[in-house]
Amino acid sequence: MTTITTERRGTAPRSTADCYRYLVDFSTCEQWDPAVYRAEKLTPGAPGPGTEFRVIVSIGPKRKTLRYRLDGVAPGERLELTGRGAGIKTRETLTLRPSADEAGTVIDYTGEFSLRGPLARAARFARPAIKRMTAQAMRGLIDALTVKTTTPRQGWASYLADRTLLPGEALYTDRGYFAMRDRSHAEFMDEANVAVTGATGGIGRTIAAEYARLGARVLLIGRNAERLAAAAEHVRGFAGCDPSKVETVEIDLASVAGAQSAGRDIARRAPRLDVLVNNAGALFDAYGETDDGFEQTLAINLIAPFVLTETVMAALVAAQGRVVNMSSGGMYAKGLDRTALEPKPADYSGLAAYARTKRALVALSHHWYRRYGDEGVVFNAMHPGWVDTPGVADALPRFHLLLRPILRDTRMGADTAVWLGSARRAAALNGAFVFDRTPRPTALLPGTAVKPSEAQSLYGWLRNKTGIDVHGLR
Ligand SMILES: NC(=O)c1ccc[n+]([C@@H]2O[C@H](COP(=O)([O-])OP(=O)(O)OC[C@H]3O[C@@H](n4cnc5c(N)ncnc54)[C@H](OP(=O)(O)O)[C@@H]3O)[C@@H](O)[C@H]2O)c1
Repeated sequence: MTTITTERRGTAPRSTADCYRYLVDFSTCEQWDPAVYRAEKLTPGAPGPGTEFRVIVSIGPKRKTLRYRLDGVAPGERLELTGRGAGIKTRETLTLRPSADEAGTVIDYTGEFSLRGPLARAARFARPAIKRMTAQAMRGLIDALTVKTTTPRQGWASYLADRTLLPGEALYTDRGYFAMRDRSHAEFMDEANVAVTGATGGIGRTIAAEYARLGARVLLIGRNAERLAAAAEHVRGFAGCDPSKVETVEIDLASVAGAQSAGRDIARRAPRLDVLVNNAGALFDAYGETDDGFEQTLAINLIAPFVLTETVMAALVAAQGRVVNMSSGGMYAKGLDRTALEPKPADYSGLAAYARTKRALVALSHHWYRRYGDEGVVFNAMHPGWVDTPGVADALPRFHLLLRPILRDTRMGADTAVWLGSARRAAALNGAFVFDRTPRPTALLPGTAVKPSEAQSLYGWLRNKTGIDVHGLR
């Protein structure tokens, strides 16, 4: 057996309490340690002595799974962890204390890595690799704990990739997520109210869980009581939050009255609404109509977010809140065509209806920004990349089968939706279409750019179609 020990120190510009809170859920290491592919808290509830984590580490092209246990904690001061995997055992300690000027926190890390078998025989290579990896992890941790204030801009490489369709789409996979330098969620939201639609599964449930971990009170919106209860349980277990901070709103968003009643219920429970994530969406194989007589893709992907957002607008204004509208990279395929938003059954194509409604949602987001931006509300549309969810498996089975190994998991798909609602600097992107925390172009193909006047007339059309009052106007 070979034992390698290493020590690292860093200073984070954050309070000791914040640093401890972020670190005690050690699964956040997937956000700051570049060697970690995925980490998961296995023990539901608030982390404490005995909490276990599964950590998948990338070593070159290989992945190694370690099971970590939080052995000892001195709240606000110290965390002791042991990790075990094939041929490796670790004992790691993180000690926190206020920096001399009391403006930050000094974080001391010590790691003892005991290697057996082939790993011990390769100690000559393992020693520098471990030293390098722990140094990178400490840098990543300090960066994760640093609240950034500069406005994110698109770099030239991703600008070029976006304009050349295939390389651009390659970044919709997990590659794109790992290409982002900052993947942390460390800006706590203890006083915030967040509402998430489509929170019973897929990307939406993960969005809700991450907001709850940041301390927000989260309202999960779904149409099925059992699935809602299961999602709420999952979110509480993941976040380890006060269980009363996770609430549910049961409603079918496919109806205008349903979306409006959900909005009224949310505004009653949260007169100051900090974040609304319009995440629910669907792609249907066959033509179908809702009870209101709308084609069902239109009803769920466009009309529901319109009605819900307008109904809670006063609560959003009161909180100077943010609205995140979940669109899709698929919207690049279509321009805004109001007539085509109501297809005839004979002309129906599921993919085209999906792309058109998602394009319209991007146009609507931008119009909302123009209309309500002065009232302090921030509007964004975004796309999550290609994400392995039940929705994709059902709607696009061949796509799912073919690309499954490189699809994003739901935390990767949820990342931008959480960042847009929680990060201080995301507020600077009001009105932008965002992918992987970066503003992106809304039109890549000729004839797909939307003029402000067209977006405005879409808005008027939605008002007429739904007959709902919009903020301050009957
Ligand atoms: N996954 C991707 O690769 C991808 C790519 C681009 C964009 N998106 C967008 O991301 C969002 C989430 O997608 P996902 O893949 O996570 O989808 P998903 O797995 O199908 O989940 C969709 C969620 O929306 C809810 N929902 C659907 N119809 C509803 C209705 N009438 N009333 C209330 N809730 C309803 C579902 O609730 P139930 O549990 O009741 O069904 C579910 O919670 C969608 O807007 C999708 O278009 C996804």
